[in-house]
Amino acid sequence: MEFREGLTFDDVLLVPNYSDITSRTQTDLSTRLSRNISINIPFVSANMDTVTESYMAVAMARAGGIGIIHRFLTISEQADEVLKVKRSGSVMIENPYSIDQNKTIGDAIDYATDKGISGILVIDSESKLVGIITARDLLFEPRRDVSIREIMTKDVVTAKMGVSLDDAKDILHRHRIEKLPIIDDLGTVKGLVTSKDITNAEDYPSASKDGKGRPLVGAAVGVKGDFLERTEAILDAGADAVVVDIAHGHSENAVSAVRNIKKAFPECELIAGNVATAQGTKDLISAGVDAVKVGVGSGSICITRVITGSGVPQLTAVMDCAKVGKDCDVPIISDGGTRTSGDATKALAAGASSVMVGSILGGTDESPGTVLTKNGKRFKVYRGMASLAASIGRKSKETGTISLDDDLNDYVAEGVEAMVPYKGTVTDILKQLTGGVRSGLSYCGAHTISQMQENAEFIKMSGAGFAESQPHDVSLM
Ligand code: XMP
Repeated sequence: MEFREGLTFDDVLLVPNYSDITSRTQTDLSTRLSRNISINIPFVSANMDTVTESYMAVAMARAGGIGIIHRFLTISEQADEVLKVKRSGSVMIENPYSIDQNKTIGDAIDYATDKGISGILVIDSESKLVGIITARDLLFEPRRDVSIREIMTKDVVTAKMGVSLDDAKDILHRHRIEKLPIIDDLGTVKGLVTSKDITNAEDYPSASKDGKGRPLVGAAVGVKGDFLERTEAILDAGADAVVVDIAHGHSENAVSAVRNIKKAFPECELIAGNVATAQGTKDLISAGVDAVKVGVGSGSICITRVITGSGVPQLTAVMDCAKVGKDCDVPIISDGGTRTSGDATKALAAGASSVMVGSILGGTDESPGTVLTKNGKRFKVYRGMASLAASIGRKSKETGTISLDDDLNDYVAEGVEAMVPYKGTVTDILKQLTGGVRSGLSYCGAHTISQMQENAEFIKMSGAGFAESQPHDVSLM
């Protein structure tokens, strides 16, 4: 039996190369997430229940990356999260939320809360616009049983289909309003332009968007049970990419799920993982994927390697898989084990087109969950999707409760539940990450990620080299 050497980020450094870059702004971080999807920064937020729901996905897309909504929600909850992302950033929202004029104020309040919206269009039985209710109409309104016709604004300022952005802005300004319903010649509601969405579009020039100007978003599905139904629902909601999510992606289950999804939805952009070998990558590509997610046991909360003894150090895994990806023109996503911008730069230099991150983004304002305080410091929970806590959460969600008869010893966890320091907003974290990667490109003498992949020269270092690479012989403040 032969032993191969497997290396990871802390085993190597990138050898500096001559650089003609005089400012980090001369570097371009745009890359491919998958065969047909481009993003403007190489970062993807992990499909984990303590990392990515709509709030995180919106922030990721605004910064130029993409978020993958996790799958541990009911199908309709997950589709709703996708829809929230799609509605958050398009300049014109298609099929805006509306309510029938015969409903009550109480119905409108519940509807607005459920959908997370501040204003609702009011329609008649033929979907014709008859009024609008704004947040101010509903604020402190005690009369839940009264018809919404009592409080809605009937004289609504509207625009016709095809109105230009400049004209829409002009109308909003002239009438001092924030919402402009778009109607057709019959008065049927076709869309909604809001001042907030216009401002967002202008404030986030690097946002990753679909063909309609809406934020890009992906969503994960499993390989068993309702996965085809789930795929259909998230695609209907507008997901740009479907991610087949399974711990051991080089498996019969994964390959057949990929084949079935591609057969049922040939147009869908399909990513699958996780694998850690060239053969795993080849098999997923042959089954029809548009990108392969690489990383087995590398994640910060993973104990797969401890429990099963299986895995491949992440840098070697990325290099092996990226060779196959390059030959087949299928992008590779490095998933797990990225702690710093230096790790991300190494993963990209090794051939990954993008990097999926979990722990770096857990603990931000945009990650699901509340901020906890312990010994005066603030934290958020970040847990492995194969941890016992996540499994109990799923089980009680499915059954409504977890019974004492459930033998938790039957479940072998491959992840841990942890806490990560509260870190503020995703925008700040991504600024640091992308700034570091841009500098990394410059040290490699590369203007783009693909140039860095061509130029990159890795050098293996000893333990002494690693120690020298950290702050040393000083007391950190
Ligand atoms: P980081 O290092 O960014 O890793 O926190 C995030 C990735 O870890 C994977 N993941 C798991 N792996 N057991 C595992 O072996 C788990 O419970 C688990 N949960 C998440 C996943 O690939 C994620 O993107």
